[in-house]
Amino acid sequence: MNIRCATVEDLINTQHANLMCLPENYQMKYYFYHLLSWPQLSYGNIVGYVLAKMEEDPEEEPHGHITSLAVKRSYRRLGLAQKLMDQTARAMIETFNARFVSLHVRVSNRAALNLYKNTLKFNVNDVEPKYYADGEDAFAMKRCLLNFARENGITPANADEFFAAPKTVDGGKKQRVVDSK
Ligand SMILES: CC(C)(COP(=O)(O)OP(=O)(O)OC[C@H]1O[C@@H](n2cnc3c(N)ncnc32)[C@H](O)[C@@H]1OP(=O)(O)O)[C@@H](O)C(=O)NCCC(=O)NCCS
Repeated sequence: MNIRCATVEDLINTQHANLMCLPENYQMKYYFYHLLSWPQLSYGNIVGYVLAKMEEDPEEEPHGHITSLAVKRSYRRLGLAQKLMDQTARAMIETFNARFVSLHVRVSNRAALNLYKNTLKFNVNDVEPKYYADGEDAFAMKRCLLNFARENGITPANADEFFAAPKTVDGGKKQRVVDSK
Protein backbone atom coordinates (compact mmCIF):
# COMPACT_ATOMS: atom_id res chain seq x y z
CA MET A 1 0.00 0.00 0.00
CA ASN A 2 1.40 3.38 -1.04
CA ILE A 3 1.45 6.12 1.62
CA ARG A 4 2.37 9.61 0.47
CA CYS A 5 1.97 13.27 1.43
CA ALA A 6 -1.52 14.53 0.64
CA THR A 7 -1.93 16.96 -2.25
CA VAL A 8 -4.64 19.51 -2.96
CA GLU A 9 -6.20 17.01 -5.40
CA ASP A 10 -6.62 14.54 -2.48
CA LEU A 11 -8.66 16.88 -0.32
CA ILE A 12 -12.08 16.03 -1.77
CA ASN A 13 -11.43 12.31 -1.19
CA THR A 14 -10.00 13.05 2.25
CA GLN A 15 -13.14 14.97 3.19
CA HIS A 16 -15.25 12.10 1.80
CA ALA A 17 -13.34 9.52 3.90
CA ASN A 18 -13.75 11.74 6.94
CA LEU A 19 -17.53 12.06 6.37
CA MET A 20 -17.85 8.27 6.05
CA CYS A 21 -15.77 7.43 9.13
CA LEU A 22 -16.16 10.13 11.78
CA PRO A 23 -18.79 12.41 13.32
CA GLU A 24 -16.24 15.28 13.49
CA ASN A 25 -16.38 16.88 10.04
CA TYR A 26 -14.75 20.01 8.70
CA GLN A 27 -15.32 22.62 6.02
CA MET A 28 -13.03 22.33 2.98
CA LYS A 29 -11.14 25.45 4.06
CA TYR A 30 -9.95 23.62 7.20
CA TYR A 31 -8.32 20.92 5.03
CA PHE A 32 -6.68 23.65 2.94
CA TYR A 33 -5.45 25.33 6.14
CA HIS A 34 -3.62 22.13 7.15
CA LEU A 35 -2.20 21.42 3.71
CA LEU A 36 -1.05 24.98 3.04
CA SER A 37 0.40 25.55 6.52
CA TRP A 38 2.05 22.14 7.13
CA PRO A 39 2.25 20.38 3.73
CA GLN A 40 4.71 17.84 5.17
CA LEU A 41 2.37 16.48 7.85
CA SER A 42 -0.81 15.21 6.22
CA TYR A 43 -0.78 11.88 4.44
CA GLY A 44 -3.25 9.69 2.72
CA ASN A 45 -4.96 8.49 -0.38
CA ILE A 46 -8.52 7.43 -1.04
CA VAL A 47 -8.65 4.66 1.60
CA GLY A 48 -7.32 6.53 4.61
CA TYR A 49 -5.73 9.75 5.78
CA VAL A 50 -4.10 11.52 8.69
CA LEU A 51 -4.61 15.27 8.99
CA ALA A 52 -1.98 16.82 11.24
CA LYS A 53 -0.46 20.15 12.22
CA MET A 54 2.00 21.80 14.55
CA GLU A 55 0.58 23.24 17.78
CA GLU A 56 2.18 26.56 18.59
CA ASP A 57 0.56 27.56 21.90
CA PRO A 58 3.08 30.00 23.49
CA GLU A 59 2.57 28.27 26.87
CA GLU A 60 3.75 24.94 25.50
CA GLU A 61 6.75 23.56 23.69
CA PRO A 62 5.88 23.41 19.95
CA HIS A 63 4.62 19.92 19.16
CA GLY A 64 2.69 17.93 16.60
CA HIS A 65 -1.07 17.50 16.84
CA ILE A 66 -3.28 14.95 15.09
CA THR A 67 -6.43 16.72 13.92
CA SER A 68 -8.09 13.68 12.32
CA LEU A 69 -7.32 10.09 11.32
CA ALA A 70 -9.51 7.56 9.52
CA VAL A 71 -9.27 4.43 7.41
CA LYS A 72 -12.23 3.24 5.33
CA ARG A 73 -13.98 0.19 6.74
CA SER A 74 -12.88 -2.43 4.21
CA TYR A 75 -9.21 -1.45 4.61
CA ARG A 76 -9.04 -1.65 8.41
CA ARG A 77 -6.78 -3.97 10.47
CA LEU A 78 -4.09 -3.91 7.77
CA GLY A 79 -1.74 -1.66 9.73
CA LEU A 80 -2.60 1.43 7.66
CA ALA A 81 -3.45 3.75 10.57
CA GLN A 82 -0.22 2.78 12.32
CA LYS A 83 1.74 3.54 9.13
CA LEU A 84 -0.01 6.88 8.63
CA MET A 85 0.66 7.88 12.25
CA ASP A 86 4.33 6.85 12.06
CA GLN A 87 4.79 8.68 8.78
CA THR A 88 3.48 11.97 10.14
CA ALA A 89 5.49 11.52 13.39
CA ARG A 90 8.65 11.10 11.29
CA ALA A 91 7.90 14.30 9.34
CA MET A 92 7.17 16.18 12.59
CA ILE A 93 10.64 15.23 13.87
CA GLU A 94 12.58 15.72 10.63
CA THR A 95 10.95 19.00 9.64
CA PHE A 96 9.83 20.65 12.89
CA ASN A 97 11.91 18.98 15.62
CA ALA A 98 8.70 17.98 17.43
CA ARG A 99 9.54 16.03 20.59
CA PHE A 100 5.99 14.86 21.16
CA VAL A 101 2.63 14.63 19.45
CA SER A 102 -0.82 15.12 20.99
CA LEU A 103 -4.39 14.21 20.10
CA HIS A 104 -7.92 13.85 21.44
CA VAL A 105 -10.00 10.70 21.25
CA ARG A 106 -13.53 9.81 22.37
CA VAL A 107 -13.47 7.84 25.62
CA SER A 108 -15.73 5.23 23.92
CA ASN A 109 -13.53 4.75 20.82
CA ARG A 110 -12.07 1.35 21.68
CA ALA A 111 -10.37 0.75 18.31
CA ALA A 112 -8.59 4.10 18.29
CA LEU A 113 -7.67 3.81 21.99
CA ASN A 114 -6.10 0.40 21.36
CA LEU A 115 -4.16 1.79 18.42
CA TYR A 116 -2.92 4.81 20.35
CA LYS A 117 -2.14 3.12 23.68
CA ASN A 118 -0.95 -0.34 22.75
CA THR A 119 0.49 0.04 19.27
CA LEU A 120 1.77 3.63 19.24
CA LYS A 121 2.53 4.03 22.98
CA PHE A 122 0.55 7.21 23.59
CA ASN A 123 -0.23 8.02 27.24
CA VAL A 124 -3.51 9.41 28.50
CA ASN A 125 -2.64 12.56 30.38
CA ASP A 126 -6.02 14.20 30.90
CA VAL A 127 -9.76 13.87 30.46
CA GLU A 128 -11.53 16.81 28.82
CA PRO A 129 -15.19 16.72 29.87
CA LYS A 130 -17.77 17.26 27.10
CA TYR A 131 -15.05 17.91 24.54
CA TYR A 132 -17.22 16.69 21.66
CA ALA A 133 -20.32 18.44 20.29
CA ASP A 134 -22.59 15.57 21.48
CA GLY A 135 -21.29 15.90 25.06
CA GLU A 136 -18.89 12.93 25.10
CA ASP A 137 -15.63 13.31 27.04
CA ALA A 138 -12.22 13.12 25.36
CA PHE A 139 -8.96 11.62 26.52
CA ALA A 140 -6.10 14.01 25.81
CA MET A 141 -3.16 11.81 24.81
CA LYS A 142 0.53 12.40 24.13
CA ARG A 143 3.27 10.34 22.54
CA CYS A 144 6.89 11.14 23.30
CA LEU A 145 8.86 10.88 20.04
CA LEU A 146 12.39 10.50 21.46
CA ASN A 147 12.50 6.70 21.47
CA PHE A 148 10.64 6.50 18.17
CA ALA A 149 13.36 8.68 16.59
CA ARG A 150 16.18 6.67 18.19
CA GLU A 151 14.76 3.28 17.29
CA ASN A 152 14.10 4.25 13.67
CA GLY A 153 17.30 6.21 13.02
CA ILE A 154 15.37 9.41 12.29
CA THR A 155 17.46 12.60 12.02
CA PRO A 156 15.71 15.50 13.78
CA ALA A 157 15.79 19.04 12.35
CA ASN A 158 18.01 20.02 15.31
CA ALA A 159 19.45 16.90 16.98
CA ASP A 160 21.08 18.76 19.93
CA GLU A 161 17.81 20.35 20.99
CA PHE A 162 15.76 17.27 20.21
CA PHE A 163 17.82 14.92 22.36
CA ALA A 164 18.47 17.50 25.13
CA ALA A 165 17.44 16.57 28.70
CA PRO A 166 13.71 15.79 28.57
CA LYS A 167 12.50 18.93 30.31
CA THR A 168 9.11 19.57 28.71
CA VAL A 169 8.14 16.51 26.73
CA ASP A 170 4.84 16.69 28.63
CA GLY A 171 4.28 20.07 26.95
CA GLY A 172 5.38 22.11 29.95
CA LYS A 173 1.94 21.84 31.53
CA LYS A 174 1.09 19.94 34.68
CA GLN A 175 0.89 16.26 33.84
CA ARG A 176 -2.10 14.33 35.18
CA VAL A 177 -1.94 10.62 34.55
CA VAL A 178 -5.38 9.16 34.04
CA ASP A 179 -6.53 5.57 34.05
CA SER A 180 -8.36 5.09 30.74
CA LYS A 181 -9.47 1.47 31.23
C1 LIG B 1 -9.15 3.77 14.45
C2 LIG B 1 -8.78 3.45 13.00
C3 LIG B 1 -8.17 4.69 12.35
C4 LIG B 1 -7.76 2.29 12.98
O1 LIG B 1 -7.35 2.08 11.63
P1 LIG B 1 -6.69 0.71 11.14
O2 LIG B 1 -5.96 1.01 9.86
O3 LIG B 1 -7.69 -0.36 11.12
O4 LIG B 1 -5.63 0.42 12.32
P2 LIG B 1 -4.34 -0.55 12.22
O5 LIG B 1 -4.62 -1.66 11.26
O6 LIG B 1 -3.14 0.29 11.98
O7 LIG B 1 -4.34 -1.14 13.70
C5 LIG B 1 -3.19 -1.18 14.50
C6 LIG B 1 -3.58 -1.74 15.88
O8 LIG B 1 -4.58 -0.90 16.49
C7 LIG B 1 -5.50 -1.72 17.26
N1 LIG B 1 -6.83 -1.72 16.65
C8 LIG B 1 -7.19 -1.19 15.44
N2 LIG B 1 -8.51 -1.40 15.22
C9 LIG B 1 -9.00 -2.07 16.29
C10 LIG B 1 -10.29 -2.58 16.65
N3 LIG B 1 -11.35 -2.43 15.83
N4 LIG B 1 -10.43 -3.20 17.84
C11 LIG B 1 -9.39 -3.36 18.67
N5 LIG B 1 -8.12 -2.92 18.39
C12 LIG B 1 -7.93 -2.28 17.22
C13 LIG B 1 -4.93 -3.13 17.18
O9 LIG B 1 -4.05 -3.27 18.26
C14 LIG B 1 -4.20 -3.11 15.85
O10 LIG B 1 -3.19 -4.08 15.76
P3 LIG B 1 -3.57 -5.59 15.26
O11 LIG B 1 -4.43 -5.44 14.03
O12 LIG B 1 -2.22 -6.20 14.99
O13 LIG B 1 -4.31 -6.21 16.40
C15 LIG B 1 -10.04 2.97 12.18
O14 LIG B 1 -10.71 1.97 12.91
C16 LIG B 1 -11.03 4.10 11.85
O15 LIG B 1 -10.89 4.79 10.83
N6 LIG B 1 -12.03 4.29 12.74
C17 LIG B 1 -13.04 5.35 12.52
C18 LIG B 1 -12.40 6.72 12.65
C19 LIG B 1 -11.74 6.93 13.99
O16 LIG B 1 -12.24 6.50 15.03
N7 LIG B 1 -10.60 7.67 13.99
C20 LIG B 1 -9.87 7.99 15.17
C21 LIG B 1 -10.41 9.25 15.75
S1 LIG B 1 -9.48 9.78 17.16
